[in-house]
Amino acid sequence: MQAEDFTCILEWEKVRKFRITNLLGHTDEALEVANNPAGGTYPVGTVIQLIPGEAMVKRAAGWAPDNSDWEFFALDVTAEGTTIMARGTQDVVNGFGGNCFDCHAKAAPQWDRICEEGHGCDPLPFTPEQIEMVQMADPRCP
Ligand code: HEC
Repeated sequence: MQAEDFTCILEWEKVRKFRITNLLGHTDEALEVANNPAGGTYPVGTVIQLIPGEAMVKRAAGWAPDNSDWEFFALDVTAEGTTIMARGTQDVVNGFGGNCFDCHAKAAPQWDRICEEGHGCDPLPFTPEQIEMVQMADPRCP
C-alpha cells in the first residue's frame, strides 16, 4: 500500500457513514460483509475510511493476527495527494492523539474491528453531519 493508492474517498462506495473500496477487485465481496447484519471478515485489499485522514486496509491472512490483518494509517491529504504519516497495527495514533488499535480492538469479533455505532468501541465526539462534511471536503476530489 503506497501513498498514491489512497484517493478521493467520495469516489468509493458509501455504506452508512463510511466509505469503502477494494484495490484487488473484491469490492462486491467487501460490500456483502459491510451489509451483512451478522458481520463477517472483509476480503484482502479492502480499504475503509470514515474521514480522509484515517484508513484501515485489510492485508493478507496471517499478516497481523493480533489485529485481524488490518493495517491502520494516519494520512495527510492535500490537493496534491496523500502523504502517509504513520502506518502499522498497535502504535498508530490519529491527529487527536488517540490510538487506533485501542479503540478498534473493542469492536465485538463478528464486526472485524469495524466500530460504527453499537459494536463496542468508545464513541467518536462527532455527529453524522460533521463526518459527512469532512468527507465532502476531501481535498483530493476533483
Ligand atoms: C476514540 C476511539 C477511536 C480512535 C482513537 C480511532 N477510532 Fe476509528 N472509529 C471509532 C469509532 C467509534 C468509529 C465509528 C464512528 C461512527 O460511525 O460514528 C470509527 C470509525 C473508523 C473507520 C470507519 C469504519 C468503522 O470502524 O466504523 C475507520 C476506517 C477508522 N475509524 C480508522 C481509524 C484509524 C486509522 C485510527 C487511528 C489513526 C482511528 N480510527 C482511531 C473510534 C476510534
